[in-house]
Amino acid sequence: MHCSKCRYQAVISLQHGNLCKKHFIDYFEEKVFKTINKYQLIGRNEKLCVAVSGGKDSLTVLYLTKKYLEKNNIPTTNLTALAVDEGIDNYREHTLVDLRKFCTEHRVPLTIVSFEQELGKTLDQAYPIINKDASKKPCNVCGVWRRYLLNKHAKRLGVDKVITGHNLDDEAQAIIMNIFKANTALAARLGPTSGVQEHDLFIQRVKPLYFCAEKEVRLYALLKNFQIKFTECPYSKEGYRHHIQEMLNEFENKYKGTKQGIVNSFLAMLPLLQNQEKEMPQTIQQCSKCKEASNKDICNACVMKETIENA
Ligand code: FES
Ligand code: ZN
Ligand code: ZN
Repeated sequence: MHCSKCRYQAVISLQHGNLCKKHFIDYFEEKVFKTINKYQLIGRNEKLCVAVSGGKDSLTVLYLTKKYLEKNNIPTTNLTALAVDEGIDNYREHTLVDLRKFCTEHRVPLTIVSFEQELGKTLDQAYPIINKDASKKPCNVCGVWRRYLLNKHAKRLGVDKVITGHNLDDEAQAIIMNIFKANTALAARLGPTSGVQEHDLFIQRVKPLYFCAEKEVRLYALLKNFQIKFTECPYSKEGYRHHIQEMLNEFENKYKGTKQGIVNSFLAMLPLLQNQEKEMPQTIQQCSKCKEASNKDICNACVMKETIENA
């Protein structure tokens, strides 16, 4: 298999042809930079924080955000990284080692906050307690607390935007999950930039890897020789998302372009969904306990925390 652009050996076969290492890296970086420009994900004077875990997606997006800033002569002093340590034994501690090394090597200041410090329990300890009363899977607890801490600490760090490593596969899964669950309000918050309207209590999240398939991100991280482990969260197989992921992978294998098709169709419908949401009365308020954003009196993170305290 030869590269369609030169005669070197190809490392990947894409819909529009085969690419060698050099041409794949160029293609991938170009795609990410185009996404940033087209959707205005990064502004010149903005303070940016990349949400990182030490995995391939977050380190790729951190690396490319820095590269984008340098390429456009934007000072990188406004760039920081923020990680949430959920407390997942034999997993997160290893990715955090990779993360610390990566941030030191690339000279990006790193802040790590943890479930244990902030909410009193690690995910490993918390979810069986919450699970007993509310039959919540680890991913439900993890998702709520992660988003909560990211938003809270991004605000504390005074950043304008949080950059995340969500890729095309993640987005296609999220779209299908929301459709299967008739969650149009949540679907309206997807897209390359999060949220429907600006709100003081929420920091906007943006996704430069929006059009990059998971296998492309993995290959990019491998070819760039990022020193990371390509492991998955041990709980990932327990979540609803995992079933959707398997279904989409099966479809993609049979019908190439399925995931891209889902995301493109969704983007065509997104303005309609967002307009519909804008007409709904705003329900965002401050949680009466922690003063963070909530759509009811007490936010989901505090509800879960209370369940643990009362157990
Ligand atoms: Fe890690 Fe769900 S808790 S993937
Ligand atoms: Zn080539
Ligand atoms: Zn709260």
